[in-house]
Amino acid sequence: MRFRPTVAEIDLEAIRHNVRALKPPASELMAVVKADGYGHGDVAVARAALEAGATWLGVALVEEGLRLRDAGIEDPILVLSEAPPGSEGDALAAGLTPTCYTDDGLRGLAGAGPGSALHVKVDTGMHRVGLSPERSVGFCEAVGRLGLQIGGVWTHFARSEELGDPTTDEQLKRFEEVLAALEAAGHRPRYRHAANSGATIVRPEAHFDLVRVGIGMYGILPGPQLEGAVDLRPAMTLRSRVSMVRRLPAGEAISYGHRYRLERESTIATVPIGYADGYMRALSNVGRVLIGGRRHPVAGTVTMDHLMVDCGDHLVRPGDEVVLLGRQGDEEIRAEEVAEWAGTIGYEVVTSVSGRVPRVHRG
Ligand SMILES: Cc1ncc(COP(=O)(O)O)c(C=O)c1O
Repeated sequence: MRFRPTVAEIDLEAIRHNVRALKPPASELMAVVKADGYGHGDVAVARAALEAGATWLGVALVEEGLRLRDAGIEDPILVLSEAPPGSEGDALAAGLTPTCYTDDGLRGLAGAGPGSALHVKVDTGMHRVGLSPERSVGFCEAVGRLGLQIGGVWTHFARSEELGDPTTDEQLKRFEEVLAALEAAGHRPRYRHAANSGATIVRPEAHFDLVRVGIGMYGILPGPQLEGAVDLRPAMTLRSRVSMVRRLPAGEAISYGHRYRLERESTIATVPIGYADGYMRALSNVGRVLIGGRRHPVAGTVTMDHLMVDCGDHLVRPGDEVVLLGRQGDEEIRAEEVAEWAGTIGYEVVTSVSGRVPRVHRG
């Protein structure tokens, strides 16, 4: 049941287009659909990505992988972090591919019985999770001793979207050294992978056997320096409708804290979306929305369920469409731009759209 006009519309044809635009000719593509497909709906995005040529799916949590299996998806799914203690049996029974990088994690998998060949994650400089490079050969030998198989070895970049920064070169060098040491010890895993969207777009030497693409698949650039490097289409449109309109005189102030005061008479429109929907409070007084094909400023504090818009002298009526993210007429508001207003990144703009906003999938 849906009464409120606030929805996130997801264009699955844009997802397919972006997968085709990002997939390297000689490498496979993993569609990263963690966090409910970066807020776009994991099952629908996964299906669209697979239709467009993705051969793997990537999730952060065992629970996210199980959700995809429950929806009937049978393709390979890599869990990008180690399975928490107690989850290994469920993960393996569902045919999820585990990532492993600690001795305890390895023992947990070995105790849970046979399953898909695991992927070993090496920390080459991000320093979030992963095995130290110098332990990689010993660790892979321990995997074999426990009767488990290695299906892949991978790493993750910290700054691949920053052109000219040497970090990615250093991480690549360490990763290649690990691969060479493993090969010398007789291990040549089927999948070697490193590239996120940034490296997929600008670093062909990092493509290896598989690229792991998240943000780019949703049509959002991982960083501003990559503008124009690839033709991406934003998949999410966040829209609502004006719920109330008032003409207010100069001197009146709007919303909690009265942080927006009218310098002249103006038309103020109320829109039923707020920070509980993921339209961040940080957008108070700095956000812009589209009404009637024009940009209008968010007037005052974004509240939990509503925000107000200063429409000046433009004619606006209750029921008029409001676009908070996406295109209306010739105007467009992109997640990258909203992120800049809010002092964050496009990733957070789309993953913040809360479960209260229905996702409507098209295409
Ligand atoms: C391990 C791993 N690989 C790949 C990705 C995809 O990254 P991006 O969304 O920048 O393409 C992520 C996302 O953060 C990740 O954590």
